[in-house]
Amino acid sequence: MKPSIITNNVTPKHSNGKRFIISCFFIICFLCTLASINEIRYESLLNLSKCAFSRAPSLVSNSSSLDSFPPSLRTIKSSPSSDDEIRVLVGILTLPDQYHKRHFLRMIYGTQSPEGARVDLKFVFCNLTKEDQKVLVALEIMRYNDIIILNCSENMNKGKTYTYFSSLPSIFNNNEGPYPPYHYVLKADDDTYFRLDNLVKSLRPLPREDLYYGYVIPCPSMDPFVNYMSGMGYLVSWDIAEWIKESDIPKAHLKGPEDKIFGNWMRNGHRGKNRFNAKWSMYNYPEPHTGCTHELWPDTIAVHLLKTQEKWIKTLEYFNVTKNLQPSKMYHIP
Ligand SMILES: *[C@@H]1O[C@H](CO)[C@@H](O)[C@H](O)[C@H]1NC(C)=O
Ligand SMILES: *[C@@H]1O[C@H](CO)[C@@H](O)[C@H](O)[C@H]1NC(C)=O
Ligand SMILES: *[C@@H]1O[C@H](CO)[C@@H](O)[C@H](O)[C@H]1NC(C)=O
Ligand SMILES: *[C@@H]1O[C@H](CO)[C@@H](O)[C@H](O)[C@H]1NC(C)=O
Ligand SMILES: *[C@@H]1O[C@H](CO)[C@@H](O)[C@H](O)[C@H]1NC(C)=O
Repeated sequence: MKPSIITNNVTPKHSNGKRFIISCFFIICFLCTLASINEIRYESLLNLSKCAFSRAPSLVSNSSSLDSFPPSLRTIKSSPSSDDEIRVLVGILTLPDQYHKRHFLRMIYGTQSPEGARVDLKFVFCNLTKEDQKVLVALEIMRYNDIIILNCSENMNKGKTYTYFSSLPSIFNNNEGPYPPYHYVLKADDDTYFRLDNLVKSLRPLPREDLYYGYVIPCPSMDPFVNYMSGMGYLVSWDIAEWIKESDIPKAHLKGPEDKIFGNWMRNGHRGKNRFNAKWSMYNYPEPHTGCTHELWPDTIAVHLLKTQEKWIKTLEYFNVTKNLQPSKMYHIP
């Protein structure tokens, strides 16, 4: 029995092997032809793999999970078509009546288009309280669709930040579109100027999980684990927004200075194993000078405490924001 089985098996295997080699030969020929015809695609494939290996994460982290999760590789695997696109939600916490501020910030962010990223700007506030808001805010939504109205009444230090983060999964998680809907969500003050290009560049090498990113407080501290990220603007990965929604830890501590409390949630919940301190690319406006300020300088991600028009103008001038205005017969700006 046994020998006959062996013989029976060997013969077909042998001829299969020949066929296999011949097929391989043709497939290789075919691939070579494809490659030479389609050099551009080949080149971009090369570029893709180059990108994947050149982006080593470099941040302060307590976890070894960093090494096992090169973020760029993981993304290429899961969605080859949009491997490079970073999706960021910028939520600016403001009040319903701040129409002019929103108009201004729409210009500030609408004139920036960071490469390889989708950055969505949303203004975030609680329930409307006045009749005129129902018309004016509805009009804004019809025109710009960039407003999130949370189920809360306006408050300071009573959980608006919690409501913001914990509402995001219900608002944006759905079966259509990519998951996560945003890799990162940012909470920003309306007196902070973010330079989106530099923000995106700083995010590119970072993990897309369990990340807590910002300007660490106290001001002299350079250790992102001591203590928490300033309310000027901090960013977390999507999984942390989901954790805030699910966990009992934030729910139990809602009252108090919101950004400090956020840091407590991270510590008590052992979240934010990956942290990135963006100091001194993020800083307070140079004047009045304190331990938290820095001169305006090119390597800037965010400037905070732009409390007056004058400070905004000086900042925008410094960063040459209007330099690329195209000449036209319609206007003349000296
Ligand atoms: C590949 O990258 C090089 C620079 O690294 C660039 O010059 C070239 O245009 C890229 N090719 C494609 C197809 O993207
Ligand atoms: C909104 O909040 C109120 C009070 O906190 C709660 O009673 C209500 O169920 C919430 N509504 C929705 C749609 O979540
Ligand atoms: C906010 O408004 C909705 C209806 O528009 C209401 O159901 C909800 O109770 C309000 N929430 C709070 C906290 O007032
Ligand atoms: C990270 O490590 C530092 C000491 O190196 C420690 O004090 C801190 O509690 C750690 N944080 C987390 C989230 O594990
Ligand atoms: C703004 O433009 C000036 C003049 O071209 C240049 O010297 C300066 O470096 C630019 N500033 C920044 C922040 O790019």
